[in-house]
Amino acid sequence: MADIGVIGGSGLYDLDLLQEVETVTPSTPYGDPSGPITVGTMAGHRVAFVARHGSGHRLLPSEVPYRANIFALRALGVRQIFAISAVGSLAERYTPGTLVVPDQLVDRTKGIRAGTFFGDGVVGHVPMADPYCSRLRKDLLSTGVTDGATYCCIEGPQFSTRAESNLYRSWGLDLIGMTAVPEAALAREAQLCYASLALVTDYDCWHDSAASVTVDLVAQTMRANLNAAREVLTTAITQADPDVRCTCHTSLTSAVMTDPALIPD
Ligand code: ADE
Repeated sequence: MADIGVIGGSGLYDLDLLQEVETVTPSTPYGDPSGPITVGTMAGHRVAFVARHGSGHRLLPSEVPYRANIFALRALGVRQIFAISAVGSLAERYTPGTLVVPDQLVDRTKGIRAGTFFGDGVVGHVPMADPYCSRLRKDLLSTGVTDGATYCCIEGPQFSTRAESNLYRSWGLDLIGMTAVPEAALAREAQLCYASLALVTDYDCWHDSAASVTVDLVAQTMRANLNAAREVLTTAITQADPDVRCTCHTSLTSAVMTDPALIPD
């Protein structure tokens, strides 16, 4: 069992900081998670780690089994998730190498990802005004990383055109990535705390004097800053309270519309 979950993004395929490690391969009603989940001890917590894109990075952002990942982590006992991801920057001040804890999210995916645990006769609408857990964000922010940014989630797998990049900038969006949707919403539906640590790897393709994003650029910047990200994560996990009570844990309290008598057990 575990109390904290970590979802690793591009470049973070294992958590070598874990000790007394066991590997589990839970199956879920939503299929298999992205890969085996490693559960180990870190900073006094039992931590469950899953690599979002699978080992060897084999899953497209649209192919990630987001529901299975969240379901499996919850089934292991996880109540708080730190999600790590590589992102592009849409604003000069988020320089490559910066670690940012986003506080808002805009969905520019194409509606092809399974984005809810509801359906099949059960209707629910969870609040998403603040898509990230403000309490868990503080554990990350206590390390001095950059506070607050709006993350724009695109479908990918292609990077954006320059016109799209400039459009997102004109909307005031700060970071661009491919995976926060539907991960954040599913965590909310599963009544889990969820916060993200975003590592800025590039200036997308809008910047006059910086190279446009490529996979090599993302990987290179990620490699150069991975140790810093691991340190932030370790400190945040050390701060995390395993027994915490949070409003995220009751997010379904007034979210379900369906007559309770009609909801199967
Ligand atoms: N991940 C890292 N950089 C990105 C970018 N520029 N666009 C979308 N996803 C990214």
